[in-house]
Amino acid sequence: MKKNVRKAIIAGNWKMNKTRPEAKELIEAIKPLVADAGCEVVVCTPYTNLETAVEMTKGSNVRVGAENVHFEKSGAFTGEISADMLTEVGVQYVIIGHSERRQYFGETDETVNKRTKAALAAGLKPIVCVGELLWERECNITEEVVGRQIKLDFYDVSAEDVKKCVIAYEPVWAIGTGKTATADQAEEVCAFIRSKLADLYGDAAAQAVTIQYGGSMNAGNAAELLAKENIDGGLIGGASLKAPDFAEIVRAASKG
Ligand code: 13P
Repeated sequence: MKKNVRKAIIAGNWKMNKTRPEAKELIEAIKPLVADAGCEVVVCTPYTNLETAVEMTKGSNVRVGAENVHFEKSGAFTGEISADMLTEVGVQYVIIGHSERRQYFGETDETVNKRTKAALAAGLKPIVCVGELLWERECNITEEVVGRQIKLDFYDVSAEDVKKCVIAYEPVWAIGTGKTATADQAEEVCAFIRSKLADLYGDAAAQAVTIQYGGSMNAGNAAELLAKENIDGGLIGGASLKAPDFAEIVRAASKG
């Protein structure tokens, strides 16, 4: 199986940005610009915007994702949101294990694994984030770090289920820094992730998984990154908050 049969997915990760009126304005601007997209287009918004986003994207080709999900079905978990609560409002995707969750909110591979399984059980498509710190890259252990994340984050996830997942390779040093990994650096790790998936699940499953790159991807560098064999899409932070920039990345992915 080759890149051209995998689904290219461009997802915006809005992080903690946009009030409801601002979200409405951004979605209104994005919709016509991506209407002819040749790839899947997703906006992952703060919880408070999800219902608005779902309502506004009905009948369009834009899908909606959340930025996190809890692993329990319900209970005494103040401040958390369950997978069923997300599916109920019409959310289809959910980002899990973003490095900001790992860094600032104590997310571990164990909780990433639990959240991934809870999302899959509820019918959500997880976008599972992995990636090394700058210090780890400098110590030449990128593959060790990312390989370990893949093994732990997908522990006990079946080959059938792993095919429903998206993996976002986001080198932590490239996030919000303006420092993009070069296309070759990104491809090297995305290819490694696919080989690791092949070890765990066999080649057919590995070839079916959409692997995104994330980290300062923008309108100027997207085409070069997305042309690589193992980079099937992008998880976009800053540039997803500007409709023309986001649309330009969608256009680059549509050319495949
Ligand atoms: P930036 O595109 O702002 O670097 O953020 C990337 C990211 O963290 C997407 O999840």
